[in-house]
Amino acid sequence: MTEPTQSQIIPRRPIRSYVLRSGRLTDSQKKAIAEHWQEFVIPTSDSLLDLQDLFPQPGKLVVEIGFGMGDSLLENSLQEPSSNFIGIEVHQPGIGKLLHGIAEQGSANLKIICRDATEVLTRCIPLTTVDKVQIFFPDPWPKKKHQKRRIVQLDFMTVLRDRLKPGGKIHLATDWQEYAEHMLVVMESVSGMHNQEGSGKFWEHPARPGTKFETRGKRLGHGVWDLMYVKE
Ligand SMILES: C[S@@+](CC[C@H](N)C(=O)[O-])C[C@H]1O[C@@H](n2cnc3c(N)ncnc32)[C@H](O)[C@@H]1O
Repeated sequence: MTEPTQSQIIPRRPIRSYVLRSGRLTDSQKKAIAEHWQEFVIPTSDSLLDLQDLFPQPGKLVVEIGFGMGDSLLENSLQEPSSNFIGIEVHQPGIGKLLHGIAEQGSANLKIICRDATEVLTRCIPLTTVDKVQIFFPDPWPKKKHQKRRIVQLDFMTVLRDRLKPGGKIHLATDWQEYAEHMLVVMESVSGMHNQEGSGKFWEHPARPGTKFETRGKRLGHGVWDLMYVKE
């Protein structure tokens, strides 16, 4: 019998697109987590979610990956009361802040999943059930050696495409020019998705609420690039 190799003995750690920041929770975030987690955070396992069961009203399903502090997602859900929203995030202060906002607004169309979005989309979201996936200002991982951590990669975008209904959309935005160009190259190569603006083009006048990282990027003098792809 041949000796097992090192990688067979020690399972390889997955490459994560985030680093868990240790940001301190404010009293209001702690209180929201204690009081509202049960009601607004969807528990997941490794089986498919029953999406029909999650919201009181049927509607289009929008999934936002990495909502950060959640202000723009909350605004988005208030602007579109006939759609249902699932926000996926791992950053506890952001989850606490959004839970506070959901409870304050009495929103019934916005729920949270606290877990790595790559696992959630791959394992828990059934095929052809989602109307739109949005990823706004994902961590750019600018250093060459870290670029494998970028969430926008062909494999994951293909997972997203398969969870979309026909006509479903992927909306991406970044303030990092080189990541924007990377996003364009990746998205142009996802078969069965076409660029709403025409091949190789960014979306010049996107319709979406501004986000915290977008404001920060603009303050630093960065541009903003949006991309919108539609499933055929
Ligand atoms: C740079 S921040 C942007 C936040 C927000 N979208 C904004 O524009 O203000 C990226 C966020 O994505 C989250 N994130 C990154 N990878 C993730 C993953 N695989 N699953 C869930 N959240 C993720 C991070 O925790 C972080 O809060």
